[in-house]
Formats: sequence, C-alpha cells, structure tokens
Amino acid sequence: MNSTEQPTSFLDYQEFFFDAIVIGAGGAGMRAALALQQDGHQVAMVSKVFPTRSHTVAAQGGINAALANVSDDQWQWHMYDTIKGSDYLGDQDAIEFMCQEASHIVRELEHFGVPFSRLENGKIYQRAFGGQSQNYGESQAKRTCAAADRTGHAILHSLYQQNIAAGTEMFDEHFALDLIQDEQDRVCGVLIQDLQNSKLKVIWAQHTLLATGGAGQIFRTNSNASINTGDGLGMAQRIGVPLQDMEFWQFHPTGVAGKGMLISEATRGEGGILRNAENEPFMIKYAPKVKELASRDVVARAIAIEVEEGRGCGANKDYVLLDLTHLPTDVIENRLPGIRDICLTFLGLDPIDKPIPVFPTCHYMMGGIPTNINGQVIQPDIAIDKNLHGTTIEPQKTISGLYAIGECACVSVHGANRLGGNSLLDIVVFGRQAARHISAQLQQNSIPFSRPQQHTLSHLLERYQRWLTAEPETANTQDNVNAIKQAMQKTMEQGCSVFRDHTRMQQTVDALQAIEERFAKVSIADQSQIFNFERTSALELENLLSVAKATACSALARTESRGAHTRIDHNERDDQDWLKHSLYYPQQDTVLYKPVNMQPKQHAPFIPQKRVY
Ligand code: FUM
Repeated sequence: MNSTEQPTSFLDYQEFFFDAIVIGAGGAGMRAALALQQDGHQVAMVSKVFPTRSHTVAAQGGINAALANVSDDQWQWHMYDTIKGSDYLGDQDAIEFMCQEASHIVRELEHFGVPFSRLENGKIYQRAFGGQSQNYGESQAKRTCAAADRTGHAILHSLYQQNIAAGTEMFDEHFALDLIQDEQDRVCGVLIQDLQNSKLKVIWAQHTLLATGGAGQIFRTNSNASINTGDGLGMAQRIGVPLQDMEFWQFHPTGVAGKGMLISEATRGEGGILRNAENEPFMIKYAPKVKELASRDVVARAIAIEVEEGRGCGANKDYVLLDLTHLPTDVIENRLPGIRDICLTFLGLDPIDKPIPVFPTCHYMMGGIPTNINGQVIQPDIAIDKNLHGTTIEPQKTISGLYAIGECACVSVHGANRLGGNSLLDIVVFGRQAARHISAQLQQNSIPFSRPQQHTLSHLLERYQRWLTAEPETANTQDNVNAIKQAMQKTMEQGCSVFRDHTRMQQTVDALQAIEERFAKVSIADQSQIFNFERTSALELENLLSVAKATACSALARTESRGAHTRIDHNERDDQDWLKHSLYYPQQDTVLYKPVNMQPKQHAPFIPQKRVY
C-alpha cells in the first residue's frame, strides 16, 4: 500500500493504492481477503464497523456440508434439497458447485481454528435443519455443522485471526460511499469515509469486491444488525447494475415475538416443538412428514396462519410458542447456550422451564447483485426479452473490475427460499472462489495498477456534499432521517411481509415514492465531524430506499407464489410464466427477466416438482 496527499478540506481526499479492495468484513469478505493476501496480493478490507462486529457474528445454527458424520449423506442430496428448497428458482450450476465444495471448505475452516462442537468420536457435530433429506427427499438428514449455537461467531473470529496473521490491511470504521469508474466504465476504486473524523479517502485498485451483507433494515421487525443497510446494493445500483430476485425475502419463522431477534432453527433441529394457544403442535397440519423441519417459508407461513386464524398466544393472540421444555437440560446448556442467553436477557425466561414466544422476522435477502460463479458482477442486456422463460443461459456481460459475494450477491444459490445453514456456506465458498478468480487475473496482468487519467469522481463528491450543509434552501426542517426510515420500514412491513397481495404492494410502491420525495428534501442538523451518526444514517437510508424500491417493484410484478413470495391473490406457483429471475433496473424503474440455469455440470438437472414436506 502507498498513499498520497494531505487533505485540507472535507472534500479533499487521501489516496491509497492496492491490488484489490474488499468492502465488508463479514465471513465472505474475510474469506476472500484471506485468500488474496495469502496469494501475495495487497488487499484493503474496508469495514463500517470493527471487523468482528460484522453481521456474520450473529449467525447461530451452523453451516451445511455432507460430511456424513451423523447421518449418511452425499453432496448430491444436499444439492437436491437446496434446489427443492429454492422452489426451483436457484441456478443449478451454482448450487451444484456450492454443495460439491462444502465438505472441503468446512474442513478448511476447522484447520483455520473454528472451534466446532464435537461428537464423542471427535468428529464435527452435525444437527438436523429444515429441508434436509437423505436420498433425494427420504428421511431427515443431519447436515449442519455447528459450534453450539454461535457458529457464525466462531467462523468470523477465526477468519479475522487468519487475516491478521496474513497481514490484510484493514480500514476499520470506514464507510464505503461510492464505486469509482474510469471512462471505459471499469470499476477502479472506491470513495470511503473515515467515520472517526469524517475524512474522505479514495482507494484505487484493479479489482473491487462487494461483500457488504444484507439489508434487513428495510423491514421494521428483523433479525439483522443495524449495520445491514444494503450499502453494496446501493453503490451497485448507482452505477446502473440491476438487482436480481429482490422480491424474495426470507422471514425466519422464529424471531422473538415483537422484537425480532433470531431464535435459531437449531432449537427445532434439537427437537423443539411449535405450539399454538390450544397447546396444539400445529406443524403436523402443514408439513405432516417433517413438521418443524420443513423449509423456512413453509414454517413461517404456518405460524402466520395460526395467528391470522385466531390461534395465537398472549393477550393480543399475536405469537406462537416454541417449546423446548421437554429437551434434556444438557442439550439446552451445551447445544443452545446462546438461545438460553437471549431468552434470559430479552424475555426474562429460561427456555429450560418455559416456552419461547416467537413470530416470523425478516432474516435474509435471497436476491441481490447478479453474479456468476466467480463472483463477477453481470449486467444482463437491457434489451432482454420480457417474457423469457427458457432453460438456456445467454452469455452475459460482466462489469470489469467488480465482484460481489455473500448476501449482497445473487449467484443464485438460494432462489426463492434459502435453506438454513446454506448462508454460512455460500459466504465462504463464493468468497474463496471470487478471490481465486481475482488472483488469477492479477497474476496474468502483473503490471502495478495506477489511477486512471479519466475517472468519474466529481459527481460522487457532489452526492456526498449535500450532507455537509445544515439547511439547504429546499430543506424541510420539520422532517428527519429517522422518521423517514421508520415510514419506509412500516410500509415495507404492510406490503411485503409473509403474505402479499396486489393492493397492499401497490400501496407500498406508492408510499415509497412519497418517502423518496421526503428524503430528497430532508437535511441533517448535526454537522460535527467526529462519528457523525446522523450523516451516516442519511447515507445508509439512501441505500435502504433503493433496496426497498427494488423489492416492492419486483414483488408487485411477479404474479405467482414461489418460495418466500406468497401472494394471496396468485396463490399457485406458475412455472410456465414465472420460472425466471427478475432484474430490477433502477434508472429505468423497470423489471425485466432472465432464465434460471437448469443445467448442472455433472448431475442430471432437477425438473421442477410440487414441493411436499
Ligand atoms: O436459524 C438459524 O440458526 C439461522 C441459520 C441461517 O440463517 O442459516
């Protein structure tokens, strides 16, 4: 790394030069940075927070791999379950690749020092999770490798330590504002802000990798960290990248009722039972074979229906109970200590003695920035056929210099509904794969990168400059950033939750338009330069609003029910017209479509079937 220039005003910036930039320090960013650094490249890792506070730390239940330590297993069965779980919208080539890589990548994590829970024989402990089967849909598999119920925490800390050992350069508490392009539209760097003192910096590099995680903050009740504001998606959209499959948001069945914090699926994997106000174990009605271990979309809908039909618990009949009281105490103490902590801290109850009040909470974004298996961001041609529902993939243009991995990306391995335990897998598999691709490019082209003569930076500074003035002439000083964020979260919850219909989604699209108009006029009161959270929130809200709009518009356009997108006015899956990925183009405010890849490289394709659990 080398740096130049001393800033003299807040629009001056210091410059840095690296081989590659990784934006985001969760599991995906950490895994990619580590591989690049170990290959001898100079990597800058930019993180809004101290790296070990990234949202991966909150992942609880585990990471899927067909290790067969507890039940007989094969990667091909994992592949089948993932495709079925995705309601056939996942790309089969990408899913095949992920499932094949899984066992190796988990052993690699073990060697990095991840303290997995162990079986008596010393092998990695694996638990049952929803949607897992042996032999293509037969008996329940146990495929989720776990470090108690703090698996993400264990993985993130191990990867952080490995990055420290490898010498990755970290820009902690730096907020990525915008991607910089040269005049050939190649992404050649990023504008960032040091949150500690508000100083701007530009990092130039041949390759930029977005690993900024999800955007669950578009919903009022969510299991996401407050940092999950879709920053990578906002940056990508601002350079014209469409967002893929944004109508598909996962509502985790068991959030703490009324609060949203995650109560891991591991609770059900260990034997937890969902009960309604009549004490009935109701999942048998919705998924007779696997009950609590149906895929998440099925369980979330079941809970919502129980409440909707008046069988909810509590004074407002607005939640159901997750009962662990029949489990042996040592299972809760040793396998679910984090869940017990959450219950004691936030609910004042011990799950050893009392059931946990739960309701679905927004948990995960299945859509995101479209990429290929190597993490390269693809930009499907805007002239693509609107009614396309074929089974072949067109060659796709990639955006030079830009990659995306993890939750911010849509590769697409989760399709319309992600299986629990596949997110930690996705981030490390595709983090490493993107790094391999970048590394190969850097090795082929070993000329040191220099700042392009012509690049587009001034309009980025202008966008930022808006927040440096307390009261622009047009400002509505009665309004504020937080109130606008709350309005967005409320309308998203009303229109785009577990059950959807045309009227409510249209109201949300209209409400978002009005909210955008409010946002265009709002100003911030705080003009201090030291950790100015009001300015950061404003910049984050711009990203959230663009994600919310992509979500609502894509959802309104899809007139079928598939996976997590459940419409009461179009309640069947329609493969004839809708077995296709959506692409929301922000500048044109339009939704176009591209085909699902149904052609794995080794395994025979899986033909869409009715999903039964
Ligand atoms: O329920 C959970 O532990 C969450 C896991 C996941 O989202 O993969």
